[in-house]
Amino acid sequence: MRNLRTLQRSVVITCVLSMFGAATMIGADESFADLVARLQKEKGQFAERQQKMLAERYDLSDRPAKGVTMTRGKPVQEGVRVKLPEGMTWEKLAEMTPEEIKEKDLWPKGFLPLPHPHHEAGGMIHPKFLLDELKKQTDRDLTRFDLDHDFDKHQHLLAEFPAPIFLTTRPDLGDVSKGQLVTLSNFEELFKDILNPKQLEGLRLLVTPFPQQQFNATLDRRTVKASQGVSCFDCHANGHTTAATHTVGDIRPDSHRHRIDTPSLRGVNIQRLFGSQRALKSVEDFTEFEQRAAYFDGIPADATKKGTNILERGSQVHFMAEFQNILDFPPAPKLNLLGKLNPAKASESEKRGQELFFGKAQCATCHTPPYYTDNQMHNLKVERFFKEVTVNGRKASADGPIKTFPLRGIKDSPPYLHDDRCLTLEDTVEFFNLVLELKLTKEEKADLVAFLRAL
Ligand code: HEC
Ligand code: HEC
Repeated sequence: MRNLRTLQRSVVITCVLSMFGAATMIGADESFADLVARLQKEKGQFAERQQKMLAERYDLSDRPAKGVTMTRGKPVQEGVRVKLPEGMTWEKLAEMTPEEIKEKDLWPKGFLPLPHPHHEAGGMIHPKFLLDELKKQTDRDLTRFDLDHDFDKHQHLLAEFPAPIFLTTRPDLGDVSKGQLVTLSNFEELFKDILNPKQLEGLRLLVTPFPQQQFNATLDRRTVKASQGVSCFDCHANGHTTAATHTVGDIRPDSHRHRIDTPSLRGVNIQRLFGSQRALKSVEDFTEFEQRAAYFDGIPADATKKGTNILERGSQVHFMAEFQNILDFPPAPKLNLLGKLNPAKASESEKRGQELFFGKAQCATCHTPPYYTDNQMHNLKVERFFKEVTVNGRKASADGPIKTFPLRGIKDSPPYLHDDRCLTLEDTVEFFNLVLELKLTKEEKADLVAFLRAL
């Protein structure tokens, strides 16, 4: 009897799979063990596809820049990492019009939208160093059986971990993380004497796991054991970022969904728009939106089935927002009160960079001091430069308007842009040199990078 049922089941699965040909389609009658086995079998092939694409687009080597580190000392990576087409130089490319670049297929592949590590499967994915530390501290395992983070092998390109935490309310203390990842296990000990009880309760909720699309207790999950879920700070680790990623919930079909890098929550108090495209108007709204919709790919039925956690606005959302709103940018010792360089502390190159930023390079039109954001959305129309193409399941197409992310503390949060397509600050300068048609010289680009590192 049992054998017969297994046979019937595998026939059903085979039919469903051959009908749709989809990589992660769950057969209507597939057992959880079969699902795990099937997706684990396919895992290697998608990981290889992703690594091949990354190597084709970027120089992924470990090349620390001299004389500059992130706030707690991790080296900042130097150099342009996006590869150029055969025989091309950045200078030659910048001489061409967007139409010419598009026509001749010369847009560097690294400046196309970056696909999710397995775009067709999608969903939240965390880097291994976070998984290991979380398991050690809280005995929770967020390892997906079907997927690894694509930058696990290239950790030198990511932000420092655990990131330092600076509070607007206690700048006298400096980094309050004491070098630890803040979790449910240690938050009380670390923060009981420096937060009020309301902020402390907000922080508790930010480190408490709740069910999500891939991490839950149903059989449609991506962890071997049933999962309690994810906490806000599993991704926004220490209020910053680990480059945990997923595909944005707002867009259909899936091929058009953006890969989205977890943004740092440092300085959310001075920001007015939240989400790269959503432009929600408050931290409170985004806090509710995360667990109600973003956690479940914007599918209300999945949220109900997998156990959405409805936060109460007055007694929970506000508390969580209050803690987020005291997360400060890291110190920038070379900047004065207006966010400009203090000439006594800055190098000649940094000063020339500032001049360019506010002048020829026009960066300050959108990145206005003191925090280097205008709190607006802008459509950079990058699609002017390339023909639509599908890469690893992601259709490179028009991105639409995106939020101007603040540049304060920017050296601490690589990779860059909403989907992490730029690995270094040098890459972002080449990107904007083309997008804004600036024709900057080599020296000017180096000076701009020096200025960005000082912010
Ligand atoms: C996958 C890991 C992940 C988890 C878990 C997560 N976030 Fe996010 N968060 C993101 C990503 C990715 C974005 C960017 C969304 C976008 O661009 O549309 C984001 C955006 C935000 C923003 C807007 C930031 C900005 O600069 O615009 C806030 C605020 C925020 N999250 C708070 C939270 C809170 C509160 C929770 C818990 C309820 C949470 N997040 C859980 C990944 C995560
Ligand atoms: C028209 C407005 C505009 C101008 C001008 C502009 N930017 Fe931006 N900048 C943006 C937007 C919008 C984003 C987010 C784009 C995305 O994520 O796809 C961004 C993102 C960035 C980022 C990455 C931020 C992050 O958190 O990942 C850097 C670095 C940056 N800009 C530097 C510059 C520099 C340097 C210049 C001048 C050469 C410049 N920008 C000019 C609008 C602008």
